[in-house]
Parts: sequence; C-alpha cells; structure tokens
Amino acid sequence: EVELTDADATERLFAEHPDIESCIHFAGLKAVGESVQMPLEYYDNNLGSTITLCEAMRDHGVRQIIFSSSATVYSGDNEMPLYETSRTGNCTNPYGWTKYVCEQILRDYVVADPSWSVVLLRYFNPIGAHPSGLIGEDPRGVPNNLMPYISQTAIGRRECLSVFGDDYDTPDGTGVRDYIHIYDLAQGHLKAVQYLFGKMEPGTEVFNLGTGHGYSVLEMLHAMEEACGKEIPYKICPRREGDIGVCYADPSKAERVLGWKAVKGLKEMCRDAMNWQTKHPSGYDDAPSE
Ligand code: UD1
Repeated sequence: EVELTDADATERLFAEHPDIESCIHFAGLKAVGESVQMPLEYYDNNLGSTITLCEAMRDHGVRQIIFSSSATVYSGDNEMPLYETSRTGNCTNPYGWTKYVCEQILRDYVVADPSWSVVLLRYFNPIGAHPSGLIGEDPRGVPNNLMPYISQTAIGRRECLSVFGDDYDTPDGTGVRDYIHIYDLAQGHLKAVQYLFGKMEPGTEVFNLGTGHGYSVLEMLHAMEEACGKEIPYKICPRREGDIGVCYADPSKAERVLGWKAVKGLKEMCRDAMNWQTKHPSGYDDAPSE
C-alpha cells in the first residue's frame, strides 16, 4: 500500500517488485459534489497519481496499464446509447474533468512511447456488493449515489429517499441509468488484463463497462423493496443540478473484443447490496461512519 502521489514511495514499490508486468490504476478521489468544493485537491490527486504512476512504470519498463475511467467523460448532448466513439468533454464537474484529462495523459504517452498498451475502462453505474457480503460500498457521510442511499434508508439509517426529478423524458419521469454489478465490473478488468497479455497491439483501447439496459430511479427503488421485503419511503424532489435524464452504454465492443458481457441482473444487484448493508449496518466500522 503506497501513496501514489508520493513519487519516492512509488519508485521504491517498483524497485522492490521487478516482476510487475502491468498495472490496474483504480486510485482516485470520486465524489462529484466534493470535487466542486475542492477542485485543486481533485486535480492534484487524480492527475498527480496518474503521472507519478506512469513515470515509475516508464522508469521500470512496465508498459501496460488499465485505467478506471467513467461514463462521466461523455458529453451530455450525446444520443443514447453511448458508444466508445461518442463525443467526450463538456464535463459538468472537476471530478469528470480529471477522468477526461487522465485519459488524455495516457493517450499522449502512447504517442510518445508507442510500445505502451493502454486500456481505458469507462464505468457506468457500478452497484451491489460481493455476494459473500464481506465487501461492499461504505460511503463516508451522507451517500451521494442512489443505491447506498436506498439501502441505508431500507435499514432505517436514513429517513426517506429524495427522488431527484420526476419530469424527465422517461417512462416514469425519473432518471434512467445503466447499473452494473460490481462483480461484472471486476470480471471486465480480468478480461482486459487477459487482452493486454494476449491479442492487444500496443496503443490505446477504450471500452464501456455497462449492461446496455437502463433502469429508472423508481424501478431501482421497487427492486430494492423486493430485495428487502418492505416498503422504502421516498419523496419526489426537484431535479439535481448537473443531472441528465438518461444514460446507458452500448457495451458490444467489450463483448466483441474482450469476450466480456455483464451477466448479473437487477435482482442480484439488489440482493447483494441489501445483503452487505444488512450485515454491515454501519459499514466497515462498528460505529456509524458519520
Ligand atoms: C454519479 C456521478 C458520476 C459518477 C458516478 C459514480 C453526478 C452528476 N454523476 O453518476 O460522475 O461517475 O456517480 O457512481 O453526480 N438519485 C436520486 N436520489 C438520490 C441519488 C440519486 O434520485 O439520493 C438519482 C439521480 O438523479 C440519477 C440516479 O439516481 O438519476 C443515479 O444517481 P447516482 O447514483 O448519483 O449516479 P449518477 O448521477 O448517474
């Protein structure tokens, strides 16, 4: 475990492990609202860690990297579904821009050293937990994202879900997203590693990791009610600033090239999310985290 913005520590890590062949770069700050409050910290941390890691890789002859990017790099004015070739940019917050710029840093480095192989994985909305209930999502403070908010409401830690807008151009008026089980997301990384080690030519490849199906906020709420066997209180509120109505992937490139496809459905996502939340009502700590 090292601090990736610490160049010396990162350099030592690579020196101590000369067998490193490739890297999966997950590290980063990821809260949208916080990034608006603390843009300098977000740029410093997310760009700084990526640059430091690439420098250490360069100095130690490691030329393969998988980067955790996000659907947030797509411009909000695209038609759905989103393809890897859809327009990017026009991000609505600093977090989104850090992902956008990190993608660009990696692409630029491939131009400078064409022996590198870079895989950019654009995550849609990862949810759920490990089926064992041992590993799950434990956001600090009040959750910003939908699913942890619903599961915390289901166990009584929150009073009521605020549904942000019911006047979008969707079947029930609430926002539609492409939710993907965290297990499928993890499998996507394994397939990407195998691809890096196998067929991939040096260069940059981008893949959407999503299911291709969109579910609305109310559909998610009702699926979670089924998973926990009771009603979950909610109220309709105004739209959240910066939100778009609908966002879902075309994941066919990942299937075609990586041989990867999401296999877990909405039921399993909700069951595993509830299983984790029930077993860990206060998250990883004994005491509530806020
Ligand atoms: C958000 C981020 C995205 C980030 C992703 C990480 C924004 C604008 N986008 O995506 O950059 O990569 O999380 O997982 O924040 N909703 C409610 N009530 C809530 C919370 C959410 O109704 O309390 C609705 C939202 O309006 C949206 C849907 O639920 O329609 C999903 O929201 P969320 O889980 O925050 O994900 P995104 O906004 O899609």
